[in-house]
This record gives sequence, structure tokens and C-alpha cells, in this order.
Amino acid sequence: MLPLVPVFVLFCCRPVWSAHLEHDQDTSIPEGWTHAGRVASSDRVELTFALRQQNVDKLRGLLESVSDPDSVQYGKFLTLEEVSSLVRPSELTQKAVWGWLRSHGVTDCRTVLTDDFLQCDMTIQAAESLLPGSRFFRYVRGQHALVRSPAPYSVPDDLAQHLDFVGGVHRFPAKLEAVSRAWTNGQRPEAGFHLGVTPIILRSRYNLTASDVGCAENNSQAVAQFLEQFYHPADLAEFMALFAGGFKHMSQVARVVGTQGGGKAGLEASLDVEYIMSTGANISTWVFTNPGRHESQEPFLQWMLLLSNMSSVPWVHTISYGDDEDSLAASYMTRINTEFMKAGVRGISMLFASGDSGAGCRQLSKGSNAFRPSFPASSPYVTTVGGTSFKNPFKVTYEVTDYISGGGFSNVFPMPDYQVNAVNAYLKAVQALPPKTYFNTSGRAYPDIAALSDNYWVVSNRVPIPWVSGTSASTPVVGGMLSLINDKRFLKGLPALGFLNPRLYKLKGQALFDVTEGCHLGCLDEQVEGKGFCAAPAWDPVTGWGTPNYPSLLAALMD
Ligand SMILES: *[C@@H]1O[C@H](CO)[C@@H](O)[C@H](O)[C@H]1NC(C)=O
Ligand SMILES: *[C@@H]1O[C@H](CO)[C@@H](O)[C@H](O)[C@H]1NC(C)=O
Ligand SMILES: *[C@@H]1O[C@H](CO)[C@@H](O)[C@H](O)[C@H]1NC(C)=O
Ligand SMILES: *[C@@H]1O[C@H](CO)[C@@H](O)[C@H](O)[C@H]1NC(C)=O
Ligand SMILES: *[C@@H]1O[C@H](CO)[C@@H](O)[C@H](O)[C@H]1NC(C)=O
Repeated sequence: MLPLVPVFVLFCCRPVWSAHLEHDQDTSIPEGWTHAGRVASSDRVELTFALRQQNVDKLRGLLESVSDPDSVQYGKFLTLEEVSSLVRPSELTQKAVWGWLRSHGVTDCRTVLTDDFLQCDMTIQAAESLLPGSRFFRYVRGQHALVRSPAPYSVPDDLAQHLDFVGGVHRFPAKLEAVSRAWTNGQRPEAGFHLGVTPIILRSRYNLTASDVGCAENNSQAVAQFLEQFYHPADLAEFMALFAGGFKHMSQVARVVGTQGGGKAGLEASLDVEYIMSTGANISTWVFTNPGRHESQEPFLQWMLLLSNMSSVPWVHTISYGDDEDSLAASYMTRINTEFMKAGVRGISMLFASGDSGAGCRQLSKGSNAFRPSFPASSPYVTTVGGTSFKNPFKVTYEVTDYISGGGFSNVFPMPDYQVNAVNAYLKAVQALPPKTYFNTSGRAYPDIAALSDNYWVVSNRVPIPWVSGTSASTPVVGGMLSLINDKRFLKGLPALGFLNPRLYKLKGQALFDVTEGCHLGCLDEQVEGKGFCAAPAWDPVTGWGTPNYPSLLAALMD
């Protein structure tokens, strides 16, 4: 936990002590958003209160044992109700928070099954008196408008011990979008001859046969999308008709949770659904899309709440979403990690895209740079997926690094035990590492695994689009394959894979195609000359352990 920094503020003519819960949160306005004036005090805002949980250490211990194949507890997952009785905030915490809200006239609140989040609708006036220091303004980007406070908020000192953070005040929606390189790079000379990645190409590269499709009762997988983007059912149907011959698959999403806006389909949203349903073929697929009543208040957080409010959710979730780790408050990320642990002990696998900026770059001061990790990719409690390209773009050959593949070392979360040997072996074996000032060797290193991320075909708004690239492509591809493995496990009466990393690292690369060529992007300065890390034998911070050889991976994970 972070030390709380008490500050002296003037509150209604008389000083009171108050505490900043997110003193290290970046409150600057991200590029692309324009200021559109002060919000009227009678306007409404929805805020999310993250109540301090109990037994978080116990939860972490439980996650370790249910995810470790050598533990007798392996696969003994908890129900949401059991998670709830473990982490539910104390009576004291619940009373303190509810009482504080009521004393400011805030009563329109909804909780979740675990009682550790409260979502409340209130006037701006109530919000600003509840959170001294906050001042809400309106911001617009394109069609999209939202309400945020650029000034840090505080809470009364005696409430600080009961709250982790307040959502809906500072964070803007993050961006991580698939792009078609045809659009960014212009027409490529080899267009038309190039292979292009389709379900058939993927299934051939990863050795999926026509009979490798789902058939277990109640198996399911999900993609979660928070980018004001929507997939279109007609695009999915057309995609399957065009590209998914020769294996049994579904052409419809089983369930959409949240509001699908009207209008044009997004490339990213189309990509996720089309590809998780191509590797995870014939498996019931859900789409979580901008859940919640207020689309513009932190949709990612909203999704986390939803998982704590639904007893039955899919076993595998793939998410293409991320933010610069250095822009987020440690208290927020720590709490989100706890939410990932809550999912993990239920047997849910969370897969995040590693990002599309390689090692990233952040200017520390003039002339001094460092790599820039992304969160949740850097969370020790999720499986992070990097990207590769075919060595020969005209053939199904072996894979090399896709230079955009996100990877690196967290500056916030220490390296988890499951990866210590793998990461240290890399650091020891590789001669040409970037200078030590660019990354933190004590941090959680990512990605964990990878798949092709280059030159996909996607159908969006009824049009087949080539050259679509990004780790948002590789993530659902790996997710679908894990769902297939879950499927085979269910048929054998085995539990789901759950949080994969402890088991994945114990395989030491067995059942994966090791990616050993190429480097990803880094800072464009003289010291590193545009390079981040380079792939190497075994684990590396560009492609993790490599890409799945499905039949071998299945065999390795079937007990
Ligand atoms: C959680 O689910 C309950 C029951 O369906 C509902 O009443 C409540 O509003 C939900 N909570 C949130 C934050 O949406
Ligand atoms: C899987 O694919 C690789 C490369 O495409 C190939 O060498 C291998 O024989 C295939 N089969 C199995 C069962 O691994
Ligand atoms: C497809 O899944 C259904 C269950 O959803 C199952 O009954 C059927 O056998 C599966 N098809 C194949 C070819 O395995
Ligand atoms: C599993 O089946 C039950 C009963 O049919 C259904 O209510 C539930 O939504 C299913 N769960 C998933 C994750 O598909
Ligand atoms: C390096 O990472 C550790 C966590 O593993 C963190 O405590 C420390 O502050 C980080 N150092 C820097 C310079 O960011």
C-alpha cells in the first residue's frame, strides 16, 4: 500500500485533514480531447468507489495454489459467492463509506455481489463536496463527450483507510487499436500476392485440424471491448463465409453484454470477434461492450465491476486495452490486480494484448529516455500476449518478431516467482541488452506468450480489409486456443486452465514454437537507436515463450 499523503485543505471556512488516494495519477488531459467548459452543478456524474477489501493476502495465496499444477489445490476454483465471503469489505468499512455518501445526500448507489464496489449517481455539486479539490469540466473528442476533474481530489482522512480509489474522476478512455498498415503505410508493392493471415492460415500454422473445434456443454469465451467500437453481426457472418471453410464454427455471437452502439463497425472490434471464433471454433462467444449505464465513465472499470456481479461468466477473456503504466496511480493498479486475482481464483483466464509500441519510450528529462511499460499488460496476474510475423510473408513459414510487439519490465510490480528463472536466464544469456537505465530488471516482465499479429484479413462494414496488424489480433487467437484446451479438459472432467502463467512457465517452452529472431521498437535516440529488446532462445521480453503448437500444447495441459 502507498503511504497516504495528508494535505491541509480549506473546506468550508475551516481546515480539515484529508488524504489523496491517487496522488500519483496523471491528471493531464490526453491528446485529442478538448476542454469544453465547466459542468453545471446540477448536472449528474457517476462515480465508482473501490472499497478496501479484506484478506487480499489470502486471496493471493489461494490464486497461487489453484494455479500451480504441482499443488494439491490445483484447479480447486472458488465460486463468486466464495470469493465474496473472502474479500467482502468489513462492516466498519461499508458503514463508513455508506454513511459518508449519505451525509452528502448521495443515495442512488448500486453495489456488486462482492460488496467491494459502489457505483453512485450524483450531482456535480455533491461530487465536488464529497471529494474536496475536485472540479469537474466537460471534454470532447469527436462525437464523444465526458466529464472529468483535472484537479486532484481528496477524501476525509478517516475515510482513506476504507477506500482504494474513486473511479470516474481522472482517467480518460485508453487507446489500443488495430490498424491496417495499408492505411498507415500506403499501398505495399506486393499487395495482391502477399499471403495475408486468415483463419485457415492460422489453423494451418498452429496445427489445428478440422476436428479441433469445441463441443463441451457450457464452454464459452469472451472478448471485452472498451473503445466506443462495435462489431457488426453481418460482418462476422460474411467473414466466416469468406474465410472459415473446412472446419465447424459459429457465425453468431452467443451473448452481448452491454450496449452496442449504432453506426459503423470498428476494425478492432471486428478483429477480436472474428478471430477468437476462428481458433476457438464452435465455442459459444460473448462480447462485453461498453457495459454500464454511463458509457463515458471508465468502461474498463465498469467491466471489472460486472465480473464481480455475475456468477456465471466465460472461462477465457481476451482484452485489447492498455494504458501507460506511469500515467496510472499505483493504488488503482494494485486494486485492479486484486480484481484479476478474484477472476483467477474462479478459474477465469485473462489475456491482455502486450501493446503495439514495442518497448515504448518515455522522456524522463531532456536527452534522457526510458522504456515505457503498459498496464494491464504489466500485471503479474494476467497472461500477456505479444506478436509475430511470418519469416517469409508469402508462405506459412516459421515466425519472427513483429517489431511492434509490446514487451518489457514493470516499474511498479515486482517480478513474480513463476517467471524469475526464465527472465534471469534471458538477462544472463543476452549480450546486447539495452542500457540498464532504460528498464527495471526487478519488475514483472512481459509478454508471456505470442501469436501472429501481422497482415490479417478482417471484414468490417461489409468490406474485407487486408494488412490489419497489432497484438489485438494475436490475443484472441491465443484465447481461442486456450478455450479449445478448456473444452477438451471439460470433456475429461477436468477443471478449466484458469490463470495460466504458473503452469506456462513450468513448461519451459515445451509445446511452443520458440521465436528467436528480430527486435521490437524502442526509443528513437542515439543510445538505443530505435530498438528495444531482441528475441532469443527460450523466454524473451518480445515474444514471451513463443507461439502455440496446438496439439503439443493440448497434450502438455491435459492433466
Ligand atoms: C449488480 O447486480 C444486481 C442484481 O442484478 C443489480 O441490482 C445491481 O445494480 C448490479 N450492480 C451494478 C453496479 O450494476
Ligand atoms: C506442427 O507444425 C510444425 C510446423 O508447421 C511441424 O513441424 C509439426 O510436425 C506439426 N505437427 C505437430 C504434431 O507438431
Ligand atoms: C459444436 O458444438 C455443439 C455444442 O455447442 C456440439 O453439440 C457439436 O457436436 C459441436 N460440433 C462439432 C463438429 O464438434
Ligand atoms: C452455462 O449454462 C447455464 C445454464 O444453461 C447458463 O445460464 C449460463 O449462462 C452458462 N454459462 C456460460 C458462461 O456460458
Ligand atoms: C523498479 O521496480 C520495482 C518493483 O519491482 C519498484 O519498486 C521500483 O521503484 C522500480 N524502480 C524504478 C526506478 O522505477
